[in-house]
Amino acid sequence: MINSSKGREHWANRVGFILAAAGSAVGLGNIWRFPYMTGEHGGAAFIVIYLIAILLIGYPLVVNETILGRASQKSPVGAFKALAPNSPWWLVGALGVFTGFVILSYYIVVAGWSFAYIYKVIIATTTQGIDHAQVFKGHITSVWEPIIWQAVFMLFTISIIASGVVNGIQRWSTILMPILFLLLIVLIIRGISLPGAGAGLTYYLKPDFSEVTGRTLLGAISQAFFSLSLGMGVFITYGSYLKRKDEIPVSTATIVGLDTIVALLAGFAIFPAVFALGFAPGAGPGLVFITLPAVFAQMPFGLIFGVLFFVLLGIAALTSAISLLEVVSAWLIDEKGWERKKAAVLMGLVIFVVGIPASLGYSVFSDFSFPGLKTDLLDTYDWFANSIFLPLGGLLSAIFVGYVWGAKKAVNEANRGSSLFTIGKVWVFLIRYVVPVMIVVIMAAGIYDTFIK
Ligand code: PFF
Repeated sequence: MINSSKGREHWANRVGFILAAAGSAVGLGNIWRFPYMTGEHGGAAFIVIYLIAILLIGYPLVVNETILGRASQKSPVGAFKALAPNSPWWLVGALGVFTGFVILSYYIVVAGWSFAYIYKVIIATTTQGIDHAQVFKGHITSVWEPIIWQAVFMLFTISIIASGVVNGIQRWSTILMPILFLLLIVLIIRGISLPGAGAGLTYYLKPDFSEVTGRTLLGAISQAFFSLSLGMGVFITYGSYLKRKDEIPVSTATIVGLDTIVALLAGFAIFPAVFALGFAPGAGPGLVFITLPAVFAQMPFGLIFGVLFFVLLGIAALTSAISLLEVVSAWLIDEKGWERKKAAVLMGLVIFVVGIPASLGYSVFSDFSFPGLKTDLLDTYDWFANSIFLPLGGLLSAIFVGYVWGAKKAVNEANRGSSLFTIGKVWVFLIRYVVPVMIVVIMAAGIYDTFIK
């Protein structure tokens, strides 16, 4: 999809940008994290807050980052250096690279579970009376198996980034993502037709705001950032491969829309089944791996659907993981002059090693618990990356555009290509006031509720 013009590679057309960025956005965040976060934070009220966060913070910041990339034609560290020379703003780009490092290190652990489930689901769907929660627990508490799958997944990610083949993975995603979409619809139909599914629909659709706390709010923005691949420079990097005349407002809105729809569908596929089959919605990171195999076990051709589902989930994870490794590698390639292969292999290996403790958090390090968080190691990596580093990256890049580089320049940059709609005063207001204030207030409330209250 990328072709070379004037020295820097560019997407061949705007569809290339939309597909790559949607490939980054749609991943484990939508199908694995969104449902369990919703389940841990009380259901429909969380979703309402999540949707508000997408509209008021997510979309404006996706546009913001894309502009920074397109205007500078550089990946995150270089982008800030180019737009604010001789200033410390490049550190925001560096924070993004660091965050990408942390996220990818545990992302591959969960992606490895998905790969393992491609065959585990066969046993889970064909063995009568099997305890699905035990199957999952058995997998993650074994020491070597998850690490091996984590390594396999990382090898796939490295080899794609090393060869720079956006083409292959993009073509694959174009074919496979719609299949994942269809499969979710099949699962929804099966889920809501199970006896007792109504309670799940009520839980998912009827908000009760009485339980909303600072933790809920922070959970919702962390989910918005994670799911949109926001706050660490994916959109700066992918935006830097846009041509000067490519349009931004509609393309980015499409990406945000697709990401949100897939997350909402995943919830419809899971909650009716959770209630119908007697699972707990707050089961945490195992929710999808426990609930869906139980649903597959109850449907005709469940084995085939099960295998297909986890293959597709693995691919959705892959198109997200490559964007994470791309940001980390692009920094070494652009700023340090490294060769692409060397950057991808070395960073991939280091990130793999950093992720090993997250995998062992269910076995060797199962006694670990971060004070205040009361979660396992993987969730601790996740919490810091998504509740602190990503929102901080988003906050700083909004301040940078709103007050340092200049909102006017940004608006001109965004509206350069012809577009169905343009951005203007509302966007500037959001970036200058609403986004920074909301992020600061929500982070403060969430951190207070988590550690101090
Ligand atoms: N958006 C991805 C998902 O929902 O699975 C995860 C992710 C990718 C987060 C890239 C951050 C990122 F930069």
